Amino acid sequence: MLKKIKSLQISGLESLPIVEGGKGVGITNGVTAGHFAKAGAVGTFSGVNADYIDENQQYIPLVYKTHTRRERHEELVFSSIQGGISQAKIAHDISGGHGRIHMNILWEMGGAERVLTGILDGAKDMVHGITCGAGMPYRLSEIAEKYRVYYYPIVSSMRAFRALWKRSYHKAKDLLGGVVYECPWRAGGHNGLSNAENPESYEDPYPRVAEIRSFMNSVGLNDVPIIMAGGVWHLEEFEHWLDNPEIGPIVFQFGTRPILTQEYPVSQSWKDKLLSLKEGDVYLNRFSPTGFYSSAIENDFIRELKMREIHQVEYRSKTDETFNCEIPFGQRGRVVYIKSSDKTKVDSWIKSGFSESMKTPDETLMFVDKSKAQQILTDQINCMGCLSHCRFSNWTDKEEMNFTNGKKADPRSFCIQKTLQDVRHGIDIENQLMFAGHSAYRFASDPFYANGFVPTIQQLVDRIMTGK
Ligand SMILES: Cc1cc2nc3c(=O)[nH]c(=O)nc-3n(C[C@H](O)[C@H](O)[C@H](O)COP(=O)(O)O)c2cc1C
Ligand code: SF4
Repeated sequence: MLKKIKSLQISGLESLPIVEGGKGVGITNGVTAGHFAKAGAVGTFSGVNADYIDENQQYIPLVYKTHTRRERHEELVFSSIQGGISQAKIAHDISGGHGRIHMNILWEMGGAERVLTGILDGAKDMVHGITCGAGMPYRLSEIAEKYRVYYYPIVSSMRAFRALWKRSYHKAKDLLGGVVYECPWRAGGHNGLSNAENPESYEDPYPRVAEIRSFMNSVGLNDVPIIMAGGVWHLEEFEHWLDNPEIGPIVFQFGTRPILTQEYPVSQSWKDKLLSLKEGDVYLNRFSPTGFYSSAIENDFIRELKMREIHQVEYRSKTDETFNCEIPFGQRGRVVYIKSSDKTKVDSWIKSGFSESMKTPDETLMFVDKSKAQQILTDQINCMGCLSHCRFSNWTDKEEMNFTNGKKADPRSFCIQKTLQDVRHGIDIENQLMFAGHSAYRFASDPFYANGFVPTIQQLVDRIMTGK
């Protein structure tokens, strides 16, 4: 590389301009974050339902003792706090005082504020920064001030950051450690595409980041770095971003690349899968129970959800001119009405085994086979309230709403808590949600990974610093 990739102040310490993107559930943890920090970069453990590791280094799985989802939600919040504190300690010990340790939380997770403050109460001195995405975390700055830690909102546009700044962040200017720009067309995990943005038309991050910088400079944030996330692979491709006043101080966040390292707690089958991907195997979908777009690897899990979308027809409970074709619904043999033009379609689905119909919140019936219908119902019953609002189970963590979003539970979505736990434990990964960034196909052709080479985190950081 012609221009040097420079270290800069991150969360109060000179660090390499490399950030490990936080990944739930439990994909980035104390071990991965500790190793990034040890390498002089920024490690980010996930504070979302983190695994609890006790004083004897034993993993204590969360076995729910209660029966309602409200009670399970309380157990989950308590366990997440314990887990987060234990992961912060592990990260701190491994780092040996080098680099920086950040904690990632999702503003849309159930009890987000309680989990965040609970972990900081127990591990404040071991966490240097908090990164927070999904939703508009207006209160993040206030919490950061209370605990005197740096904070990093994750945004996908200048407008989002401007709104956060105007409403609350200007009151805690000194602790704003950086602004993460996460490219909503390329990043792995949930994506912050706004309604005005077209998922099909990719927008280059450069002008969008330059726009954020211009706004930041206008409010005196000239020295606060922007952290570029989503689709970052070889830093030499970003050479024109370095020492460029239009961009200002810049740091790069890697989400997908670190998954293929020795320290990452994912199964060999997941790592092998990453090495085998082709362009187009990762794409945006709209199935997440959070309501956000997200980017994941196409597998049986995604294909099945796509099938549910297709096996769908509009219905009405009462007949009218258009909805005049009667079909039975449910065990008790009630009837509902579909368009007669849809009848042949429905008959052919039923004939092929998709015999169970389920109502969606959009007055449609969705057809799946018996075992899938049973699994959907069981997953909804087992909900432990991991999100602040869940489209799949209709749960919300708001007591004033009586813990429901007031809509029908949506069988076209899925329990993200369950599948993310299972994918991390390597259970049947073809049938789980595997988040990944859109550049994941590059593993297959990047010579660094030739012959199935899996680097350590230190080796990855060294490699990234060469521009490759
Ligand atoms: C498996 C996976 C899980 C993720 N989980 C989270 C998360 O819990 N919170 C978050 O803010 N970002 C999450 N992300 C986004 C990453 O932190 C990062 O910003 C993104 O992956 C960057 O894009 P890249 O994958 O192209 O490097 C996740 C990404 C992946 C691939
Ligand atoms: S159904 Fe699953 S994803 Fe939805 S809130 Fe409950 S535990 Fe979370």
